[in-house]
Amino acid sequence: MSETEFPRGLADRLRGILIDADYTVSGVRDRLGDAAARALAREELVPALRATGGEERLGLLLRLWWLRSPIPARAARAVLPVDELAEAGLVTVEEGPHGTVVRALVHLGPWDLEDGRPGFVVSDPKVRPGTGAVPRHDHVVGAGNASATLSQLIVDGPVDRALDVGTGCGVQALHLASRAREVVATDLNPRAVRLAGISLALSGVAGARLAQGSLYEPVEGERFDLIVSNPPFVITPDSSRYTYRESDLPGDTVCAELVRQAPAHLTEGGWCQILANWVHSDGDDWEDRVGGWVTGTGCSGWVVQRDVQDPAQYVELWLRDSCEHGTPEYTRRYDAWLDYFEREGIKGIGFGWISLRNDVAQDATVRVEELRHDIEQPVGPYLPDVVDGAMTALRLTDAALLSAHVALAPGVVEERVGRPGAPDPEKIVLRQQNGLRRGARVGTVEAALAGVCDGTMPVGPLLDAIAQLIGEDQAVVRERTPDALRTLISEGFFRVAR
Ligand SMILES: C[S@@+](CC[C@H](N)C(=O)[O-])C[C@H]1O[C@@H](n2cnc3c(N)ncnc32)[C@H](O)[C@@H]1O
Repeated sequence: MSETEFPRGLADRLRGILIDADYTVSGVRDRLGDAAARALAREELVPALRATGGEERLGLLLRLWWLRSPIPARAARAVLPVDELAEAGLVTVEEGPHGTVVRALVHLGPWDLEDGRPGFVVSDPKVRPGTGAVPRHDHVVGAGNASATLSQLIVDGPVDRALDVGTGCGVQALHLASRAREVVATDLNPRAVRLAGISLALSGVAGARLAQGSLYEPVEGERFDLIVSNPPFVITPDSSRYTYRESDLPGDTVCAELVRQAPAHLTEGGWCQILANWVHSDGDDWEDRVGGWVTGTGCSGWVVQRDVQDPAQYVELWLRDSCEHGTPEYTRRYDAWLDYFEREGIKGIGFGWISLRNDVAQDATVRVEELRHDIEQPVGPYLPDVVDGAMTALRLTDAALLSAHVALAPGVVEERVGRPGAPDPEKIVLRQQNGLRRGARVGTVEAALAGVCDGTMPVGPLLDAIAQLIGEDQAVVRERTPDALRTLISEGFFRVAR
């Protein structure tokens, strides 16, 4: 790939050609059809190759940029400025057994920008399993599942300045472009900086700044309203073997450092949101470990563990990710990786996300929890409410809670389980039908409160009325309920109206 800057004029022309040919997410989906698109998602190219034969423009572009199939040079030249693209390092012209062909040196895929305009993401071609090849050390990974997880997490804009640390192919910077007046995207890998620049230029995103360097180094002294990172979080003995997923910091330090240094780069009220892996060891509790990273910043935060893998599962996942399954080195690497985990006392690895908000002036609250079930996506639009709910609940003393006006949150329903015909249920569960879709087992008093509280009356008198109705002592109900209600507020079942 060429080291020189990708010419702006060439980017504009290529963007025009791609859009004209309907090389867009919907255009490609329609062209391939459901079965071929599903096969592609399984890394099977044959149905897509069959669906894109001939010399029609969209089929040619798909074969070249997506399916990595060389196309005849004559046909390519009729559609694309081949020589300029070759000079810029995006394609190569080769002599093949059936004549001159053009081969792509990058993967160029269509992308839907959040404002509805078509965009494009440029990365290194994916190394396919079973080919015997492994990624190069400075491989630039395309937008994958982890990228999508982070993008669903990003809080809504608009904001003034946003930063993407470890931009890779630039996919998060594209997400930030719809939220921020100014976007800065950084990466340690100079090839990533270049490819991210091409993704942004082809997507018509003007004015984003790209910078090469480690973590926050390139933005020394700068502050942002929103920082996102899908960092190289893989915990491995071979640090930095693959820059796209491993840093040169030991264990889970890269994630801890991103969090630790965030406040120095956040405006007041600014958010930092990262994906992370963290160590589970005999020595400490993961909640204290990761919660401690956030508490140490003085910011409010929310740490969510979405999955935990044992060491063997983890090693297999990442050896498969780098297509090393079945290679002669596989067993040795697997063994060495497990040795490392054993030496370090690592019993498992947590996968999740960390969001922190720089609200140091207020009483910062950090919520740490495990959520393994399916939740409403995207999380970003309701994420600030989750952090605010936890903060509000923590601040309320019992007395303040009894005089507060509280309302049941929208979308909460009640489930009663019991023997058919029995006068009382065996259990009552409040369940959120949207958002985090939590369920909470509650007592009769909280269930009754959920049925009547709409924010018009304070909690205390409502509890008195409920106590009278169920024949319990009012003072006991007033004393017993605040703790449970506080938890229900912090989990989003109730909201404090005033
Ligand atoms: C998992 S990829 C994420 C790419 C992209 N942001 C996404 O969401 O798909 C991690 C990126 O971090 C970059 N990286 C690795 N070490 C880094 C460091 N010390 N500082 C900044 N970026 C780094 C890698 O080059 C890679 O592009």
